[in-house]
Amino acid sequence: MNRPSNDDAGRTRNRREFLVPLALAAAAWPARLWAAGPEQSGDPLIRTIDFSSLRTLLTPNNEFFLRNHFVVPSVSLAGWKLRVTGRVRSPLELSYAAILGRPRHDLTVTLECAGNGVGSGGVSTATWGGVSLGALLKEAGLDSRVRYVRLVGADRGIEGSSNVPVSFTRSIRVEKAMHPDTLLAFRMNGEPLPVEHGYPVRAVIPGWYGMDSVKWVIRIEALEREDETFYMTQRYMAIRLQTVGAEQSPITRMRVKSQIAQPRQGEILAPGPHVIRGAAWAGENRVAKVEVSTDGGKDWHAAHLETESHSYAWVLWEYPWDAHMPGTYVIVVRATDDQGTMQPSIRDSQRFDSYEENYYHSVQCEIG
Ligand code: MTE
Repeated sequence: MNRPSNDDAGRTRNRREFLVPLALAAAAWPARLWAAGPEQSGDPLIRTIDFSSLRTLLTPNNEFFLRNHFVVPSVSLAGWKLRVTGRVRSPLELSYAAILGRPRHDLTVTLECAGNGVGSGGVSTATWGGVSLGALLKEAGLDSRVRYVRLVGADRGIEGSSNVPVSFTRSIRVEKAMHPDTLLAFRMNGEPLPVEHGYPVRAVIPGWYGMDSVKWVIRIEALEREDETFYMTQRYMAIRLQTVGAEQSPITRMRVKSQIAQPRQGEILAPGPHVIRGAAWAGENRVAKVEVSTDGGKDWHAAHLETESHSYAWVLWEYPWDAHMPGTYVIVVRATDDQGTMQPSIRDSQRFDSYEENYYHSVQCEIG
């Protein structure tokens, strides 16, 4: 990649889209979050799924990927309250029982970590059960000037170069917060929400990258202005090189993406019929088409969608492959959403961060 060495830009700041000096932008990159293949780390918990074993629409709770920034907070229900505060007419304090007593919505949603690489396992799907965030905000009476809603998690720790602990908090635009599908979930695949996934209550922001689905939510704040806290300014920014400096913009909606589960990279298969399979997702949109190439991207064939295509959730797809000729094959997949947006074949060469990777996924295998 061609990276200019000058770092002297940083001028016009236009709300969330602004030019920053390259050195500052570079300081904000997190290290790559996911390597290929399943892996798990202890503290904070980070776990990927084994994407090559994917067979079912829903990911079992004990396999669902995990991405924590800090140690899982210890939450006791005794005295636990969810507070709705900020620019509201009547602040709320809700017990867990009061939340469970409200009308419940169930929604199947794929969460993908913004730092999930192409072919990696930082992505999973569950049916989440919870209450509508918008209904709670309406009950609290949002001030008409509210533009963002901040979700505060109970977990805290040291991040970046500061010695001052920060909470994990993210803010989303009020329109998304008020959308009827935006949930405060307390159930996951028909079970109470597991502790590591945010018990007692987490946000599920369907179609947006995983960082906005704040876990262990204890406070919801209605804001008039943009949030300038750590995770809104120092992380989860797309950084794109410009002629001078870099442009930063916040990461929100998931991009259309598809991945091959089988065959696995480097697999040796006997000559004969095989099934190429995987999953594809498109955030708030629906997957309209998945195409597979068995010759490195020269010819493309429509894959069959094995599950119904809905907003928010991945589809499982299959392509029957008659592989009679021994040799080395490069299998490639690409998806297109119902707005006509197709995955890019390669990564935008001007991107300087490692979020939102969604270029074509390919695996090489042998028939022999
Ligand atoms: N919420 C809190 N409170 N703390 C966190 O570290 N991680 C976020 C999000 N919510 C996080 C959080 C990120 S980066 C992702 S990708 C998703 O949770 C992952 O959700 P999961 O661990 O349940 O899969």
